[in-house]
This record gives sequence, structure tokens and C-alpha cells, in this order.
Amino acid sequence: MQESDDSVKFTKSEAQDYWKSPNDGANNPLEYIVDSERLRERNALLLSVFEKHVDREDAILEIGCNAGRNLHNLWAAGYRNLSAVELSEPAIEVMKQHLPSVYRDSKITIGAIEDVIKTISSKRYDVIFSMAVMIHLPPESEWIFKEIARRAKKKIIVFEGEGGEDISVRHFPRNYKRIFTRLKRPQIEQIWPAPGLPRSYVCRVFGPRPE
Ligand SMILES: C[S@@+](CC[C@H](N)C(=O)[O-])C[C@H]1O[C@@H](n2cnc3c(N)ncnc32)[C@H](O)[C@@H]1O
Repeated sequence: MQESDDSVKFTKSEAQDYWKSPNDGANNPLEYIVDSERLRERNALLLSVFEKHVDREDAILEIGCNAGRNLHNLWAAGYRNLSAVELSEPAIEVMKQHLPSVYRDSKITIGAIEDVIKTISSKRYDVIFSMAVMIHLPPESEWIFKEIARRAKKKIIVFEGEGGEDISVRHFPRNYKRIFTRLKRPQIEQIWPAPGLPRSYVCRVFGPRPE
């Protein structure tokens, strides 16, 4: 059986168990905050997209912040209304130890986005974004895209895998242009290739629902 066969893919609970504490030697939270050329490129991409599309005072929610590298870069660039939802408690412990200022100044919720999204008021966030997180959400979790589309007042920004490269039982590539435009969020920018990310990743920015 091929790895991409849906029957061998992770279920939602298998995916969440994996990310709560990755046990295959990959995805140690420290890997997400090391200084490397690849991560420097991702950081520069994130900041250039935010510089163009997000105001410093906007309320921002990151889905899947891991040890907080993206939040730290935004914080250092002057974005201070930062929140995140992250499944992995060990990753948040790493943030507490290594990036204490951004941990202190951000509102972090430990939990699965599937459990948290409905508790978020539709007035709370201007911008909701994710980097390499939605690719780990199985088909059972796809209902959250509609909830995100309802809750991001100004922008939705994704840096997510859409193609066939880097596929395993825990990768679920999908076309986010199709998903969010169907939810009446027009795409206003697309960046591909996305520097620092694998070639199957696309950065997409979606604007507000037309009046
Ligand atoms: C590949 S890492 C990317 C981390 C970070 N966004 C970055 O760019 O460095 C995926 C992250 O998403 C988190 N995650 C996966 N599924 C999640 C879910 N259902 N709810 C919240 N976080 C989740 C994982 O724990 C992990 O921290």
C-alpha cells in the first residue's frame, strides 16, 4: 500500500497525539528556533508579508506556533497584539525558556485548534495565520476553515503545503485558494516559491469578505 493512501493516513486523534509529543526523532521544538539559513528565509518571508498586509496594532492569532519563532519575529518587528493556539505543551515550555519576552507578551492557549476555534469570538482577531500547520490537519478537521474564514476580520495568511512533495501519513496537502475563495475570502496575494519552505508550499493572503 502506498503511503499516500487515505486508509493509512493519521486520523485526527493520531495526528493530535503525534504533535502533543512527537516520538519519531523529528520535530523537536528546539529545531524550530535554531539559527539556520532556511529559517532565516522563512522569517524574512513572514515579515515581508506582514509588513505589506498587517498593521502593527492588529490583533493576530497564529495557529500552531510551536516554540514561538514566528511570534518572536513579529514581536521584534513591533507587532504586540499576539495570540497563538498550540497543541504541544513541551513546545510552549521551550518558548517559556528560550523566548521569555514573547511568551510573556503573547496570549498562548495550549490545545487543539479544533477544540479552541469555537470559543473564539468573531470580533476578536484581525488576522489569523499559520505556517506548516494546516498541512497536518486531517480531512476530519476541515470544518475549521469555515470557522477561520468567519473569524479573521481583515486577513487570513497561510504558508502551507499544497503539493505532493514531503508526503507521509501525517501530511494532508490541499489547495487553500480553492478553500478560502469558496468561503468568500478573496485571495489578494500569492507567493510561490515561498523562500525557506519546501517547493510544494505556497504563501497566500486572503482579504476580507466583500460587503
Ligand atoms: C511543522 S510545525 C510548524 C511550527 C511553526 N508554525 C513554524 O512555522 O515553525 C506544526 C505545528 O503545528 C502544531 N499543531 C499540529 N496540529 C495542531 C492542532 N490541531 N492544533 C494546534 N496546533 C497544532 C504542532 O504541535 C506544531 O507545533
